[in-house]
Amino acid sequence: MPRTWLTERFELQVPLVGAPMAGVSDGRLAGAVSAAGALGMFGVPPSVPVSWIEEQAAIAAASGRPYGIGLLAWGLSDEHLKAVLRVRPALVSVSFGDYAPYVEPLRAAGITVAVQAGTTEEAVQAERTGVDAVVARGGEGGGHGRDDVATLPLLQTVLDAVRVPVLAAGGIATARGLAAVLAAGAEGGWAGTAFLGCTETTLPPEGLRRVLDAGETGTAYGRVFDVAQGLPWPPEYGGRALRNAFYDRWRDREDELARDEQARAGLEAARQGRDFDTAYVYAGQAVGTVTRERDAADVVAGFAAADELLSRFAAP
Ligand SMILES: Cc1cc2nc3c(=O)[nH]c(=O)nc-3n(C[C@H](O)[C@H](O)[C@H](O)COP(=O)(O)O)c2cc1C
Repeated sequence: MPRTWLTERFELQVPLVGAPMAGVSDGRLAGAVSAAGALGMFGVPPSVPVSWIEEQAAIAAASGRPYGIGLLAWGLSDEHLKAVLRVRPALVSVSFGDYAPYVEPLRAAGITVAVQAGTTEEAVQAERTGVDAVVARGGEGGGHGRDDVATLPLLQTVLDAVRVPVLAAGGIATARGLAAVLAAGAEGGWAGTAFLGCTETTLPPEGLRRVLDAGETGTAYGRVFDVAQGLPWPPEYGGRALRNAFYDRWRDREDELARDEQARAGLEAARQGRDFDTAYVYAGQAVGTVTRERDAADVVAGFAAADELLSRFAAP
């Protein structure tokens, strides 16, 4: 594989980050991705106790390889920040909200800090804040972020606009996607959806089935699920999830949904009862490439074939 800032910084075999996915990637998936030669991350939901962060960090660290933790700036508490500083992962991403106060304390602890940016302006702002790397994240990506620009146009302008290393996220799910962004000048890919079919996620089997059955047009972007849960996501960061009956029913009626206690309670009941006609599975457009259950090592090995694609252009 080509050596890049990402592979050198974390001694990786594959220039790839397994993206943090709150509620889906915990220490087990992160550790499995790292053990396979990429950099695995787990995502921290704002609602978890501090002990959860410590437990998952210990599981991820058991791989003996560097791993990362993804934080949501809008929901980050002092206790969570302190726990992350204590367990000291190699990489922290802190995105979506006012992340600036956290950059210096994390860097001072020797942690590499990245921010996910959904516009070129956000990427430039992140660089000014002193982050080590920017993740150019296009709107086709799974989970939360902006839906303003797609990965390829965003990556091109961000690469020209900042000097810090740039990782590319949104729709990168196979060796082909990874080869494309490396050829463009990214230091690596940042992939979430590609790992949704993994045996190591916390998705229940019913959710996994929806992932495997969904095609590239099977996702939708919006705030329906956040509003239904009363989560204080900044409104510019909606989420991309598998489109389902609950989404179709409430799309463009979010104000009404916010007042509908019954609908909100129904979502929570569906989540517990694993009824994914109502409950959400966050996923990006690349879900169409996820067609069978595999372990994380197999997914990382698949990405490593980017090397062959790139070698087509090597000098003879
Ligand atoms: C199920 C799921 C949960 C996510 N949770 C988080 C999160 O907790 N923190 C975060 O920074 N990004 C989160 N993301 C976004 C990813 O970090 C990344 O931007 C995205 O997965 C990239 O696009 P892709 O899904 O097409 O690979 C999540 C994505 C998914 C699919």
